[in-house]
This record gives sequence, structure tokens and C-alpha cells, in this order.
Amino acid sequence: MNKINIGNGKISASEISLGCMRINNLSKNEASRLINTALEEGINYFDHADIYGGGRSEEVFADAIDMHPSMRDKLIIQTKCGIRDGYFDFSKAHILQSVDDSLKRMQTDYIDTLLLHRPDTLMEPEEVAEAFSTLNESGKVRYFGVSNQNPMQIELLNKYLKNKIMINQLQLSITNTGMIDSGLNVNMTIDSSIDRDGSILEYCRLKDITIQAWSPFQYGFFEGIFLNNDKFPELNHKIDDIAAIHNVPNTAIAIAWILRHPAKIQPIVGTTNHKRLRDICKASQVKLTRKEWYEIYRAAGNKLP
Ligand SMILES: NC(=O)c1ccc[n+]([C@@H]2O[C@H](COP(=O)([O-])OP(=O)(O)OC[C@H]3O[C@@H](n4cnc5c(N)ncnc54)[C@H](OP(=O)(O)O)[C@@H]3O)[C@@H](O)[C@H]2O)c1
Repeated sequence: MNKINIGNGKISASEISLGCMRINNLSKNEASRLINTALEEGINYFDHADIYGGGRSEEVFADAIDMHPSMRDKLIIQTKCGIRDGYFDFSKAHILQSVDDSLKRMQTDYIDTLLLHRPDTLMEPEEVAEAFSTLNESGKVRYFGVSNQNPMQIELLNKYLKNKIMINQLQLSITNTGMIDSGLNVNMTIDSSIDRDGSILEYCRLKDITIQAWSPFQYGFFEGIFLNNDKFPELNHKIDDIAAIHNVPNTAIAIAWILRHPAKIQPIVGTTNHKRLRDICKASQVKLTRKEWYEIYRAAGNKLP
């Protein structure tokens, strides 16, 4: 498994991360198998949120690996806060409480990276800055990031933060490429030239903010998986052809496509199946050619100008 640097070398992370959103219903044995497979494959980065499974995913995770200090040292644990039942909440009180609850559920005394889950338009950045400083100085959180935020929202936060934003987790898969499409279609009058995210891809590269790709196998907003799906015949045909050339499963090509981008994007894969996870990790051995990358992009229905 290749490594990437997050935050200019502050964190050495596996280039693929295991997302733990769906592990809440796994038995202890199943979860343990999944996490240990991840570790065997070289994955050291695990993504959580306070709301996954209503908090259950964090509990299942800690229980599955019998969390203890020597195990904890091997893991980079990320969690998120800020989504509540029907509203978003970046208040200092909520951020502090959410972290305390996550620490308890994960049986640990520190979180490596804490992300603000979705923008809260009622955010007061001074309050977030106070919360982050309190968490950092008490040793409860090492580093900070956001999810689903645009450049100006990050700029606004960073104006006040002592601990600057190092990560932005965004939806990205071969079939969800808005942040790439707009950059390829500058100066055009077609839909794919519409920049909905404020050049977030280029902004994060400029600022050394690591983009993490959530739901790398899904199309739409959780509509399903594009692999082996009759709705995407041309794309699957192309992925299968390229998978045969590289002698890896199609799952690995879907992830290799994200890894090939020089922005060093970290895919957060959400499988709960340990065999599938091994297949996915083969992506780390594949470097797609420029031509292959663009062929897959076009097979997903995108046109180049
Ligand atoms: N920041 C945010 O707003 C946000 C939003 C959503 C998710 N996330 C993070 O992103 C992570 C990944 O999200 P996700 O679970 O939606 O992503 P995903 O990896 O795109 O999807 C995984 C799901 O697809 C299923 N699947 C079926 N066939 C598959 C195949 N051939 N290859 C791969 N998966 C297949 C998996 O089933 P099996 O389990 O049976 O393999 C699993 O249920 C989450 O765990 C979470 O950490 C963040």
C-alpha cells in the first residue's frame, strides 16, 4: 500500500482509507475480520462520524479490535461532527460534546483528525476556532479538516483557526466528477462547464489540503454502485478491459482511477466485505496511463471539448 502525506508531512497515511459508515450492523467477528484485513493490506486510516449507525459504528470498531494502546498506535482515526437530527451545528458546545462522545465510544483518548461534516450556515468561525484550540491543547484532537466545503468556506474558517484545515472530504467517483468536469470545460457554455464547487480541486491542491473521496463506487447520491450495473454498459466494458490489461479486479480499477489524479486524493472505501477489500487494495499496484484515465472518464459519458 502506497502512502500519502497529509498536512505537509504531518500524517503519513495509507493512500486508501476504510470508511466505517456501514459497519454498525456487523458482528464483532465480521468487523474484526474487516479491520484486520485492512491492516494486513497496509491501510492505517479509518474514517468515522459521530452519526454513523447513530454512534454504533464507532462502538463496533473499538470492540472489534479490542482497542488497547498498542493497537491504537497503529491506527489513524478520523471522525466527524456537526450533523444533528434535522440541522447542522458547529457550535463550540456541540463540537466539544461530540468529540467526548466519540472518544468514549472508540475507547481512546485522542482522535487523529476531526472533520466538520457539512457546512453549517449559522457557523461562527471564532467559536469553531475556540473549540478546535481547546481540543488540540487538551490532546483530544491532533488535526482538523472539513467535509463538503467550498474554498470560501474554508478560507472563512482558516481566517480564525490556529489549527488550519488539512483535509476536505468530498463526493467523488468515476460517475460523480463535477469538480473535474468544470476544470476540463472552462470557457464553454455547456452544463459540464458549470463550476458548482468554486474550483475546489485546484484550491485544495494550491493549499496542500488533502481531498478524500467519499462513496467512490456510488453513482448519484447513494443510488447504487456503477460497477457491474446495466445502466453503465460502456463504462463497465471499458473498466473490464483495462482491469484485464492490469490483471486486477474491476473494483481496483475504479479506485486506481481516483489514485491516478496528481492531487493525491485519498479514496474512502465503504465495503464491509473483507474479500472485496483485498480486491480494492490491488488498486495501489496499478498506475493507469493518461490515455486509460481519459478513456474511463469518457466511457462514463463525459465529453471532452
Ligand atoms: N463526508 C460525507 O459526507 C460522507 C458521505 C458518505 C460516506 N462517507 C464516507 O465514505 C465512506 C464510503 O462511503 P460508501 O460506503 O457509500 O462508499 P462505497 O465504497 O462507494 O460503497 C460501498 C457500498 O457499496 C457496496 N458494493 C456493492 N458492490 C460493490 C463493488 N463491486 N465494489 C465496491 N462496493 C460495492 C458495498 O457492499 P459490501 O459491504 O457488501 O462490499 C457497500 O455497501 C463511508 O464509510 C464514510 O466513511 C462520507
